[in-house]
Amino acid sequence: MDRRNFIKYTTAIVVIAGTTYYLTSDTSNFERADLQTDLKTKIPMQNDEKEILILASLAPSGHNTQPWFVKYHEPFHWTICNDRTRWLDGVDPTQRETILSIGAFVQNLEYAANNLGYSCAFDLLASSNEDEEIVTVKLSRSLPVQKFDIKKIQERRTLRSNYLNGIIKKEDLDYLLENETGFIRYFPNTSKEHLYLNEQTIEANRIQSYRDAAQNELADWVRFSNEDVEKYRDGLTPASMEIEGFSGWIVRNFYDKQSVMKQDFREKNIAKVVEQVSKSAGWLVISSPDHSVLSLLEAGRRLQRIWLKARDKKIAFHPMTQILEEEKTRLAVNYAIGIKENIQFLLRVGYIENYPDPVTLRRPINWFTRN
Ligand SMILES: Cc1cc2nc3c(=O)[nH]c(=O)nc-3n(C[C@H](O)[C@H](O)[C@H](O)COP(=O)(O)O)c2cc1C
Repeated sequence: MDRRNFIKYTTAIVVIAGTTYYLTSDTSNFERADLQTDLKTKIPMQNDEKEILILASLAPSGHNTQPWFVKYHEPFHWTICNDRTRWLDGVDPTQRETILSIGAFVQNLEYAANNLGYSCAFDLLASSNEDEEIVTVKLSRSLPVQKFDIKKIQERRTLRSNYLNGIIKKEDLDYLLENETGFIRYFPNTSKEHLYLNEQTIEANRIQSYRDAAQNELADWVRFSNEDVEKYRDGLTPASMEIEGFSGWIVRNFYDKQSVMKQDFREKNIAKVVEQVSKSAGWLVISSPDHSVLSLLEAGRRLQRIWLKARDKKIAFHPMTQILEEEKTRLAVNYAIGIKENIQFLLRVGYIENYPDPVTLRRPINWFTRN
C-alpha cells in the first residue's frame, strides 16, 4: 500500500470506529417520556388507588430523592412515611426539606383523589421531622369535592434556563396567590431584596460547592448515564440539569461520581448559578409560622398549590435553597429581606416562552408502597 492509500485507509477506519462508538454510546438524554408507566404492584390495588399514588409521586423533592414511601393498610387507607434512606444529611441535616417534599406529595395526593371524586381525611402522626410515619389518610366518596385537572400535576416541572426578565404581572400574581392566606411574598427584579437574594444565592453555592459533605452527597444523587437514569428512576439527570447537545453527550458517557468532586465541575456549577440568577422576574419566598411538622407540611402544600398553577401563565419555578442550607447565608437572610416568619422556600421565578414537558423520572408505584 502506498502512503496516500494508507492515510485514506486509516482515516476511514478511524471514522467508522468513531461513528460506531458514537452510535453505541448514549446519544440522547433518557427522559420521562421514554418510560412507560409501570402499574404492576405486589399489593393488590384498585386502579383509582394506583392513579392517585402515581400522581402523588410526581411531587418535587430536593435532588429528586423522592423521600417517601406508603404503608398500605387496606383499600383507600394508607400512611405516608418518611424514607430515611433518602435523606440529604449533607444539605438538609434537620430533614426540613424532606418534610416539605412530603407536603408537596400530600397536596398532589389530595388533588388526584378529588379528581376521582374522593375526599381525604388526614391525621398527623409525626411530631418530629425524623419520625417514620408522617400522616395517615383515608379516602372516601361520602363528601362532595371539587375536581382537579390532573394535567397540571403531570405537566409541572422545575425549569432552570431560558427565563425572561419581565416582572410578574399583577393579574398573574393574583391568580397564583388566589385563596392563599399569607406566607408568600414576591420580590420583583427591580427590588433591592431581589439583588440581595441573587448575590447570596451565588455566595451560598460557592460555599456549598466546596463543602465536600454536600458535594459528595450530590455525587450520590447524580445519574449521569442513561443506564443509571433508567435503573434508579430518581436523582438529578443530565436532562433535569438541562445539559443538552454535545455537553450532554460528554456527561452521559464520560462523567461519573468522581467528576462531581473535581474543581472544574464545582466551578462550572457556580458559573451556571451566576448565569441563572441574572435572568428572572424575581423571587417568590414561602414561609411558615414555625418549624413544626404540620407547618412544614403546609408550606410544602402551599408550594405545590401555586406551582401547579404556574404553567397556566407560562411562569417557571426554580427552587434555589442553598441560602437556607448554608449557615452563613441563612442567619442573615430574614433581616436582609424583611421577613419575620420562617423562610422555607426561595424560588426564582420568571416567564418563559416555550414551556418544555417534564423530564425527571419517578420510581414506579411498586417501589414505594409496602404492607
Ligand atoms: C425542598 C426542595 C428543594 C429543592 N432545592 C433545589 C435547589 O436548590 N436547586 C435546584 O435546582 N432544584 C431544587 N429543587 C427542585 C428539585 O431538584 C426537583 O423538584 C426534582 O429534581 C424533580 O424535578 P421536577 O420538579 O422537574 O419534577 C428542590 C425541590 C424541593 C421540593
